[in-house]
Amino acid sequence: MSENILIELKGLTKRYGYGDTESFALKDFDLTIKRGEFIMIMGPSGCGKTTLLNIIGLLDRATKGEYVLNGEDVAGISARRQAKLRAKKIGFVFQNFNLIEDLPIIENVALPLVYAGYSKTIRLKNASTALKRFHLEEREYYFPYQLSGGQQQRVAIARAIVSDPEIILADEPTGNLDSRASHIVMEELKAIHEEGNTIIMVTHNPSLTSYATRVINMLDGQIDTDIKTVADANLPQPISVKIKKKKQQQEGFISIDTDEDKKTKKRKKSRRRQ
Ligand SMILES: Nc1ncnc2c1ncn2[C@@H]1O[C@H](COP(=O)(O)OP(=O)(O)OP(=O)(O)O)[C@@H](O)[C@H]1O
Ligand SMILES: [Mg+2]
Repeated sequence: MSENILIELKGLTKRYGYGDTESFALKDFDLTIKRGEFIMIMGPSGCGKTTLLNIIGLLDRATKGEYVLNGEDVAGISARRQAKLRAKKIGFVFQNFNLIEDLPIIENVALPLVYAGYSKTIRLKNASTALKRFHLEEREYYFPYQLSGGQQQRVAIARAIVSDPEIILADEPTGNLDSRASHIVMEELKAIHEEGNTIIMVTHNPSLTSYATRVINMLDGQIDTDIKTVADANLPQPISVKIKKKKQQQEGFISIDTDEDKKTKKRKKSRRRQ
């Protein structure tokens, strides 16, 4: 298996009801997602988009089929570990922000860290850092109702990324925003994607698909069309690279030290010392 594969869904089916009332939200759904993809999922109301995100986000279980996350079959993971995985690896953004109204925004952002088991000091420190990223540092102790819709959604995105998850799942994150606020939210998601994160987002707005590396259209619980707009080789990689010299940096070179480079450096250093 390629180590770049993050999610594999095989024959995933979600059935509601039995007999006369039987219906399928997902039907024999197959999908492979690589690290660094920014997938937008579109399709008519009721075609199974939210069901799919909820299953990927470990909030719901399929009736049938296989879900492999990071090479591990989810069916074999205990409910307790699934909850931990969800808190650490998956960030959620919803259409109606889902902030807790009687908690100041810093505590809203810190919530996933409670489930991930961090101390209060670390939780507040990390939440504060996340809010700074979205220029909301002066509003840490505001309550959600004191913020605009766009600001509330940025708080929700800060909450989604606070535990440094690998996957961001967003269900119509701009659905309640005007076009200006939508644009700001999309730019934030774009920046998060460019850092090497995988984003799976549901939208009804075709004009947002320019942000995606792959657009999937669903119909009746299945994939109707699946179009990649960026080659796999060009997806952002979550690697930290060392910039060698200022000159190279100015010239636009980025280099990663190989083991051979490191040995040469060591040799040169010891020669200089002699
Ligand atoms: N708890 C439930 N019980 C019965 N049917 C359900 C349940 N949840 C979802 N469904 C059905 O599953 C199908 C898929 O629902 P889902 O919410 O995933 O659609 P969606 O594509 O997200 O739609 P929308 O664009 O309106 O958000 C729908 O037909 C819905 O009625
Ligand atoms: Mg939905």
